[in-house]
Amino acid sequence: QAFFKPIQRAGLPSPAKRHTKISVIGAGNVGMAIAQTILTQDLADEIVLIDANPDKLRGEMLDLQHAAAFLPRTKIHASVDYELTVGSDLCIVTAGARQNPGESRLDLLQRNVALFKNIIPPLARFSPETILLIVSNPVDVLTYVSWKLSGFPSNRVIGSGTNLDSSRFRFLIADHLDVNAQDVQAYIVGEHGDSSVALWSSISVGGVPILSFLKNQQIAYEKATLEKIHKEVIDSAYEVISLKGYTSWAIGYSVANLARSILRDQRKIHPVSVFANGFYGIEGGDVFLSLPAQLGRGGVLGVTNVHLTDEEAERFRDSANTILDVQSQLGI
Ligand code: 2OP
Repeated sequence: QAFFKPIQRAGLPSPAKRHTKISVIGAGNVGMAIAQTILTQDLADEIVLIDANPDKLRGEMLDLQHAAAFLPRTKIHASVDYELTVGSDLCIVTAGARQNPGESRLDLLQRNVALFKNIIPPLARFSPETILLIVSNPVDVLTYVSWKLSGFPSNRVIGSGTNLDSSRFRFLIADHLDVNAQDVQAYIVGEHGDSSVALWSSISVGGVPILSFLKNQQIAYEKATLEKIHKEVIDSAYEVISLKGYTSWAIGYSVANLARSILRDQRKIHPVSVFANGFYGIEGGDVFLSLPAQLGRGGVLGVTNVHLTDEEAERFRDSANTILDVQSQLGI
């Protein structure tokens, strides 16, 4: 006896809703912050968690499943086996070593590249049409590594990049001006890390370009003040790591926001790590770096031709060279 009596719709096939599946690789603090933010935002019909530690994994899965009565309906599965990711629309990779206090993102490289050699090929095999969204650090180099290991076209390999740095930047500017961070348009581009580049020339608040506004109002601003805000952005992760051991909430919201733009075809512009060859004079080799990119169901739909001053373009190229130097030692 079925619980519900099915309603017969004579001759009509039942309407099939497209099933959206997201896999999150790595059930650590970052992976779980992303998974739980995605759940609250009703972005997927199915979330698969993959991790190497079966007990931690099952514990996290059960803990999320027990919130079912308060959340939009989403099937939550977990496994140590990549086969469960089959047919994913989006694979979010957070697995890997994380920074110890004082370590830079680039210090993690060798450990995480070795790990990615076991992660990316099975993901690509089980979901050949998926979009890869890389979060583990150093994110720009690992996005390049994932592009190489997957053999995917570059529009389907995206690094979370400076979407988070830009959010920190917008928060600090908004706090300074006492406005809503969502009204602040401001981008950090380049490496998600110590060589990132703040695009001061294109900041606007509610449509008002901020540098010319300050100038028109004859409000003095020192370059040093601007540099200080950017330095605060760069230091943000180090500060949080030294205080609580890792960062999680902001990256969780930042990546869920990217997942929404991709899966719901929002065509929104996000500063994320994309294939950056040919932009602003980058030509020394294949490199992924953050630029404002339009994201939709096809992955990266385009890259905004944002104006960079000569100084900003030079810093962007320096950021590219930092990454290329590191990549040249990888042998991938
Ligand atoms: C962050 O910026 C550590 O990359 C991580 O929060």
